[in-house]
Amino acid sequence: MSISDSQKPAQFSLTTPLYYVNGLPHVGSAYTTMAADALARFYRLRGNDVLLITGTDEHGQKIQRTAEQLHRDPQAHCDEVAEGFQDLWQRLNIHYDRFSRTTSDLHAQIVKEFFLRVWEKGDIYLGQQQGWYCVECEEFKEERDLLSEKRCPIHTNRAVEWRDEQNYFFRLSRYQQALQDHYANSPQFLQPDIRRNEILNFVSQGLQDFSISRVNLDWGIPVPNDPKHTLYVWFDALLGYITALLEPDAEPTLENALKNWWPIDLHLIGKDILRFHGVYWPAMLMSAELPLPKAIFGHGFLTKDGQKMGKSQGNTLDPFDLVDRYGADAVRYYFLKEIAFGRDGDFNETRFIDILNADLANDLGNLLNRTLKMAVKYCEGKVPAIDPQAMPQDWSLVQLAQGAGEKASEAYSVLSFSIACEVALSLVRIGNKFIDEQAPWSRYKAGEIETVNQILYAVLESVRLAAYLLAPIVPNLSTKIYQQLGYSVDFNDLGEPTSLKLLKEHDRWGCLPPRQTFGQPEPIFQKLMAPSLDLEP
Ligand code: MSP
Repeated sequence: MSISDSQKPAQFSLTTPLYYVNGLPHVGSAYTTMAADALARFYRLRGNDVLLITGTDEHGQKIQRTAEQLHRDPQAHCDEVAEGFQDLWQRLNIHYDRFSRTTSDLHAQIVKEFFLRVWEKGDIYLGQQQGWYCVECEEFKEERDLLSEKRCPIHTNRAVEWRDEQNYFFRLSRYQQALQDHYANSPQFLQPDIRRNEILNFVSQGLQDFSISRVNLDWGIPVPNDPKHTLYVWFDALLGYITALLEPDAEPTLENALKNWWPIDLHLIGKDILRFHGVYWPAMLMSAELPLPKAIFGHGFLTKDGQKMGKSQGNTLDPFDLVDRYGADAVRYYFLKEIAFGRDGDFNETRFIDILNADLANDLGNLLNRTLKMAVKYCEGKVPAIDPQAMPQDWSLVQLAQGAGEKASEAYSVLSFSIACEVALSLVRIGNKFIDEQAPWSRYKAGEIETVNQILYAVLESVRLAAYLLAPIVPNLSTKIYQQLGYSVDFNDLGEPTSLKLLKEHDRWGCLPPRQTFGQPEPIFQKLMAPSLDLEP
């Protein structure tokens, strides 16, 4: 390794799924993307070079039918919905680096090259496909898994359709042993454990080849050496992760695409698309003799009244409306704090409002507000002039704060967003208790100025640290806190050079510079009001 290589920051690349464009995004699709963005922000703050990929999956029967029902040209439909996704990501303050669209010409080139590699390997053959197909899942289903009236177990209001046609197949069965070896040798490949076990169990029952082409379907990429067939949407879509890696203006070849960022460090997905990512995708890559992604994490479902929220089920929450009413930070905080990542979680608006008001407006906002007021009064509007290293080490707040950075960092590294939030919030809660117990206002009257300075410093520094640790989740709010504490940084600043470079080691206790002049005080989080109920007249 050359010196310049060793000085290069470590890279971290991650993806969200490429979302179907059968409708505008709902909160379920926003959930994966918010988590991906929080993780990307965490790694950027640590100084890593990060590549966050998202995008849209635009081919296949589901999209073709949606466009037909709307009497629209499919490409015009995809263009409009893809724009809707980008609009939502902007409103949710999501900073992605690449937006991959499977209808792009570049993508068709990559798919063609990949298909031919697998073809030359002898892993594709023509066969007869019979089975029950769920257009919503774009997947064949086992008869034993169907609900009554042949309904899909995921899209419970949709019946599956019988198919009997000639298709090209991919020899998945050939990769069973290689996959099992990989799962055994790389335990981090499938996460969390419950998902890993699901896949191990599935694969151990024996893998069957799967069909990778369709007839009677126009909306897709033609099979390179037999254009009467159209490639199966999943074969095409997974390769969208590779297309996304092409540098702008690079020739669309696999070699160019794989040069800088492959293998991907993490595919973040929902648990319903685990088999595609954990079984089909690695087998396709093995066939093409390409390295495998390092990890796949399958999170849980957001439910409403216990049912998976989804466009096809018609029980979605409109994320545009949520962000308009409550702001990006609030939406991001609720979903990442309230639901343990990996498990299912139900959305409830009353709980949403209660949590945000309790954590951000009351605990965090009030602590900053009251402490700043005291510091303005007792310390001339500046950070108290004390030596942070000479603080009483037995103060519980100081002890807690000293370990908080490491704990939160561990939590983010394993995608435990809610634990990372808890670490930050516990600093705030103990900070509130600490200031009540220490009563700096009485000590000030008693002339104990040095202790007052120490108390206020300890609390302000804890608020700063909490803001820093929460920045991947609520970047706007953290920026406001930092600015009120006198820093000129913006956690959304990704420019080069970025002001975030000034924040090196800010996950440690004792960074707040004594005598730093505070910025303009203002409430950091306005209390949310419960929506007024539309009462029948
Ligand atoms: N197009 C495929 C992915 C191809 S990736 C190469 C797809 N798209 S999707 O739009 O249907 O779903 C995308 C993601 O959103 C999946 O990870 C899915 O789990 C997630 N969610 C969709 N509904 C969801 C909930 N109700 N709750 C949480 N996430 C869910 O699948």
